[in-house]
Amino acid sequence: MTQKAIPFVDLIAPHHEMAEELIDVVRHALATAEFVGGPMVEGFEQEFGRFCDSRYCVGVGSGTDALRFALMAAGVHTGDAVITVPNTFIATTEAISQVGAVPEFVDIDARTYTMHPEKLREHLGTCHIDRTANKLRSRRTGRPISAIVPVHLYGQAADMDPILDLAEEHDLTVVEDACQAHGAEYFSGKRRCWLKTGSIGKAAAFSFYPGKNLGACGEAGAVTTDDEELARNVRMLRDHGQNQKYVHSMEGYNGRLDAIQAGILGIKLKHLTRWNKMRREAAARYHQLLSAWASSLVVPYEPAWARAVYHLYVIRTHDRDGVREQLSQSGIGTGIHYPIPLHLQKAYSNLGYKSGDFPNAEKACSEILSLPMFPTISPQQQSEIVETLLSVSEATAA
Ligand SMILES: Cc1ncc(COP(=O)(O)O)c(C=O)c1O
Repeated sequence: MTQKAIPFVDLIAPHHEMAEELIDVVRHALATAEFVGGPMVEGFEQEFGRFCDSRYCVGVGSGTDALRFALMAAGVHTGDAVITVPNTFIATTEAISQVGAVPEFVDIDARTYTMHPEKLREHLGTCHIDRTANKLRSRRTGRPISAIVPVHLYGQAADMDPILDLAEEHDLTVVEDACQAHGAEYFSGKRRCWLKTGSIGKAAAFSFYPGKNLGACGEAGAVTTDDEELARNVRMLRDHGQNQKYVHSMEGYNGRLDAIQAGILGIKLKHLTRWNKMRREAAARYHQLLSAWASSLVVPYEPAWARAVYHLYVIRTHDRDGVREQLSQSGIGTGIHYPIPLHLQKAYSNLGYKSGDFPNAEKACSEILSLPMFPTISPQQQSEIVETLLSVSEATAA
C-alpha cells in the first residue's frame, strides 16, 4: 500500500476554493426561483461560447443530449448512416441511433487513438454515389451517409483538416464530439492557426459530467456552433420544440440546461484555463518520469498539431490487467477508456461487425490504462504512481 490512497480523479478538492461562490448560486436560485432558463443559463452560454471561439452556445441537459440535438439540427435523418470511431464512450453512438440513424465505424490511429483520416478515406472510397438522390451511399448498409462524428478523445483533438476535407468532398456534415476536450486546440495547417475544439466542425457537443475538465455538480452539456439556424433548432429541440410558450413548430425533448448547474459552471469556467494548464504540467511530469521505460510502456502521443488538455492520461502496456490490479492493491485508482470497442459490444451485435474489423481500436482496448489525472495531482503522488507502476512492469518483465 502507498502512504495514502491516490484516487483516479479528485472531484472534491477543486470545490474548496470556490465553495462559497457555489453555494451562493443555490441561494440565488432559491431567492429568485430561477430554476429553469434565465440569466444564469444565458450568462454561461455566452461565456462558454466565447471560451470555445464559437458564435453560439446552447446549454442542454447532458453531453448525450448535445450530440443528439446537434445531429438532428445538422440535418441527420432517420435511416441515415453516420460515421464515427469504435473507441469512444457509447453515448457517441447512442446519440446517432436515437436520431434514427445507424453508426458506421472507421478505425482509429494507433498513436493518437482518434479517427484515422486514411481509414475514413478508405471507407468513403467503398461507398457509391446514388445519382437519383445525389447522396453518398454506404456499401455496407445501403444507407445514405450524412455525417461524420470525430471524437476528441482523452482531451486531444482529432486530426480535423483531412476529416473536414473529406467531408467537404462528399458533402457530409461534421459534428465534433468534444465531450472530453474542453479547451483542447488543433493547429489547422489549412487555416494556419490554432482552433479550439468546439469551433471546428458544423457543430460540437460538450459534456459537463462531473469528472470532465469542466464539470457540473450534476448533469449538463452544451452545443456550440457558428450556425445561427442550427443554434435556433437546438434551442427548440431542448425545449419541446417551442420557441414561444406552447407554440410548437416541432416535437422536441426536455433537454434544457438546469439553471443551478449553469451558475455553477459559470463559476468553474473562470478556472478552466488554469486547470487545463495544471493538467498539461502533470502530463509533462508523467512523460518525464516514464520516458526511460519507453520499451515496455507507451505514453500519450501529442502530435505537433495538437495541444491536449489531458482529460485522461492514457498509457499502454501489454500486461494491462496485471498492472492495474497491482496499482489497485497499492491504493492507486485507474480506469480503462474503454475496455470493449463499440463494434464488439453486445448492444451493437445487430450491426454485424466482428473481431478483427478495427485492429487499432481492438489492440488499444486491451492495452490502455488511464492513470490518475486531475489538476491538483501532486508531483509526489505522480512519483509514487510511477514507482509502483515500474516495480510491477519490472517484475512482469523479469
Ligand atoms: C466521448 C463522450 N461522448 C459523449 C459523452 C456523453 O456525455 P454525458 O455523459 O454528459 O451524456 C461522454 C461522457 O462521458 C463522452 O466521454
